[in-house]
Amino acid sequence: MSSPLSVGLIGAGWIGSFHAETLASRLPNTRLAAVADPVPGAAERFSGVRAYRDPLQLIADPDVQAVAICSPATSHADLVVAAAQAGKHVFCEKPMALTLDDADRAIEAARTAGVALQVGFNRRFATDFAAMRARIDAGEIGTPQLLRSLTRDPGISAEVAARVKPWTIFNETLIHDFDTLCWLNPGARVTEVYAQADALVHPQFAEQGFLDTSVVQIRFDNGAFAVAEASFHAVYGYDIRGEVFGSGGVLLAGRAPEDAGKLNTELFAAAYTAQFAHFADCVLAGSEPSVTGADARIALEIALAARESIETTAPVALNGVLA
Ligand SMILES: NC(=O)c1ccc[n+]([C@@H]2O[C@H](COP(=O)([O-])OP(=O)(O)OC[C@H]3O[C@@H](n4cnc5c(N)ncnc54)[C@H](O)[C@@H]3O)[C@@H](O)[C@H]2O)c1
Repeated sequence: MSSPLSVGLIGAGWIGSFHAETLASRLPNTRLAAVADPVPGAAERFSGVRAYRDPLQLIADPDVQAVAICSPATSHADLVVAAAQAGKHVFCEKPMALTLDDADRAIEAARTAGVALQVGFNRRFATDFAAMRARIDAGEIGTPQLLRSLTRDPGISAEVAARVKPWTIFNETLIHDFDTLCWLNPGARVTEVYAQADALVHPQFAEQGFLDTSVVQIRFDNGAFAVAEASFHAVYGYDIRGEVFGSGGVLLAGRAPEDAGKLNTELFAAAYTAQFAHFADCVLAGSEPSVTGADARIALEIALAARESIETTAPVALNGVLA
């Protein structure tokens, strides 16, 4: 067996801490070598690994073969570029970028450097979602005609809502659903996006651009209609579901609300682990990960169209988006 992949993790917050444990102890083919976080003490919490404040120092660490970027979204594209230019393989949490120019820069940097670039669309690694895609590929339900994907987060306090950046519901929450819907309708292209959204949970922050509830309609060029739906406040727990209705049947993924886990790290623990197992396998074998920078760009393009649709209160046509 080859040596485990030596990974440096950037951003030791909520999801970064969970991913750090995965890389350190849940997988046989990864090793957590270093952690970087600008907040004093944050990286030092992890024993037996080098701690940095500056992510660029972690990227320059010669013992780091790959980086896992788990810092806030605004930092992602620059860190992907810096890591790729240093010859490091990259796992980047979603969203990979917040503008299409930044997405292109990140994709190009990885391509030029010849490093792997995988984005954190963990839902693809959940066994029920993966089984759904495999059955679609096998032709079990014919041509997809109606697709649904929903994300309901388990609650948001007023204190946190006050700090949420505008458009987070599209850029960071529904981006998962946009990726899922494209992935479950293989080969189809998105032609139109129409979004409605409001602040139903914390209406007092609507004026500053806060949105906590949304429905987004997506039209594909194979005729399929899709709906992505999100709420930041499901009082019963974290609720993620998907459905594809086709010419020959229907497939479902996700659990009934009464079975939903309280946190994403409970519901998707196995999927988060499987995505890093896949990343390490690909890097060690020299193959391309199944979730690419190009996939992240497509999901971002839908997120940006959803924003435009809210601003114009009209559907937005998309040309050339490959799903
Ligand atoms: N795939 C998923 O299911 C999932 C779940 C949660 C979060 N995320 C994504 O992960 C990212 C982080 O989210 P979070 O909830 O863990 O945020 P968080 O605020 O809990 O953690 C972010 C951490 O990054 C650090 N940081 C800030 N700027 C940095 C920089 N320039 N370089 C390095 N570190 C920096 C902060 O000090 C903090 O410790 C977001 O993009 C989010 O969308 C994905």
